[in-house]
Amino acid sequence: MLKPGQIITNFKTKKGKEITIRVVDKNDAKKLMDFINPIFAEDTFLLRGPKDLVKNIKEQQKYVKDQLKKVRKKEGFLLLALYKNNIVGTTDLRKGQYRHKHMGDLGITVSKKFREEGIGQELLKILEQESKKLKLKALYLTCLACNLRAIHVYEKWGMKRVGILPRAYEYKGEFVDGITMWKEIS
Ligand SMILES: CC(C)(COP(=O)(O)OP(=O)(O)OC[C@H]1O[C@@H](n2cnc3c(N)ncnc32)[C@H](O)[C@@H]1OP(=O)(O)O)[C@@H](O)C(=O)NCCC(=O)NCCS
Repeated sequence: MLKPGQIITNFKTKKGKEITIRVVDKNDAKKLMDFINPIFAEDTFLLRGPKDLVKNIKEQQKYVKDQLKKVRKKEGFLLLALYKNNIVGTTDLRKGQYRHKHMGDLGITVSKKFREEGIGQELLKILEQESKKLKLKALYLTCLACNLRAIHVYEKWGMKRVGILPRAYEYKGEFVDGITMWKEIS
């Protein structure tokens, strides 16, 4: 079972940076806020954008508390990729419930300056390894159809495009389709 703060792996990026992947811990709220707000402000392909920044540390502490509860109850996890003790990437998994409990919904984000160095692929590899331990049979997500880099990363990892949610997201003043992607892991 995963423990708060547990180190899962260390690896070097394509540019030789030493990265540690570990489970979120109770004192990570400030670090997480410093990581995620610039990405929301960037107005990239995430659900939240510049108008939806984390407003204060209390909001982020609540998020961390919820993530730790999820880990404790084996309902999923939040993993952090750290470089020099700063968060540069995250991936999170949420297990489904009831008839859906064999399915895991995932999210992933890497800081702008650290993209395209292999951190995304490494996070997904570890996410899959840990999802198997939760007895999940498949992983899925929905991403913006125009997010070609993410779609490439997911397909390289073995996901398939299984559906389209028409005009599911409002992105930069336009309605954009969502692509549902899926990967069997057992
Ligand atoms: C998507 C994301 C998580 C991927 O993480 P990453 O660390 O950049 O990914 P990697 O370095 O492992 O792989 C990047 C790959 O995308 C490829 N790529 C880059 N731009 C691309 C484009 N426009 N179209 C297709 N592929 C592209 C790279 O060549 C590389 O492929 P390769 O491994 O075959 O050489 C990260 O870029 C990110 O956080 N983006 C912004 C937020 C986001 O989109 N999150 C996902 C929401 S669904």
